[in-house]
Amino acid sequence: MTMPDDVPDRFRWAVDVMQVRPTDRVLEVGSGRGVAAALVAHGLDGGHVLGLDRSATMTTAALRRNQAHVAAGAVAFRTTSLADVDLPPASFDVAFAFNVSLFWTSPARELAVLARALVPGGRLFVFHQPPSPEKNPAVVEAATRLLTGAGWTVLETLVADTSPVESVCLVARHEP
Ligand SMILES: C[S@@+](CC[C@H](N)C(=O)[O-])C[C@H]1O[C@@H](n2cnc3c(N)ncnc32)[C@H](O)[C@@H]1O
Repeated sequence: MTMPDDVPDRFRWAVDVMQVRPTDRVLEVGSGRGVAAALVAHGLDGGHVLGLDRSATMTTAALRRNQAHVAAGAVAFRTTSLADVDLPPASFDVAFAFNVSLFWTSPARELAVLARALVPGGRLFVFHQPPSPEKNPAVVEAATRLLTGAGWTVLETLVADTSPVESVCLVARHEP
C-alpha cells in the first residue's frame, strides 16, 4: 500500500515518537478522519490499529480513507466514546490521542479504561497541536496533573517544531 502524501507534519512526528513495533496492537482515541491510523498501519506487520471516535461521521471518513488496511484486517474503527467502550483487558501495547481535549479536561473514567486495556508497561501518548503555541504549557500542566492523579507516570514531555505551530506530547505509563 502506498504511503499517502497529504499527511500533516504533526502526524509524521507522532508516528516517529511512538516507535510502534510491527506486531504492536495500537489503540487510537479520537481517530477523526483516520489519517494517523493510516500512517501507523503502514509500519505494521502482524499488528493492528483500532480507532475510536464518538462521531459516526468521523468513523465513516476514517473507514473510507483506510479501505485497504481495513480489508487487510490491520485497521478497524468503532463509533463510541472512550468511556463507554468495552475492550478486553491488556489487549493493546500502545494507546495514543492527537488533539483530544478530554486528556486535559476530565479524563478520570477514560484513563481507567485505558489503564485496563493496555498491557503492563504499555505506553500512552497524548499529543496536542494548538491553534497557537502559547496554549501548550497550560495543556501540558493540566494533562500531567490529571494523569498523575489517576496513577499514571509521565515519563517524558516532548515538544516539536511542527508546521504551522509546535506540537507537544506526553508519554505516560500506568503504574498499578
Ligand atoms: C479535534 S478532533 C482530532 C481528530 C484527530 N485525532 C486529529 O488530530 O485530526 C477530536 C476527535 O476526538 C473525538 N473525541 C473527542 N472526545 C472523545 C471521546 N471521549 N471518545 C471518543 N472520541 C472522542 C471527536 O469526535 C473528534 O473526532
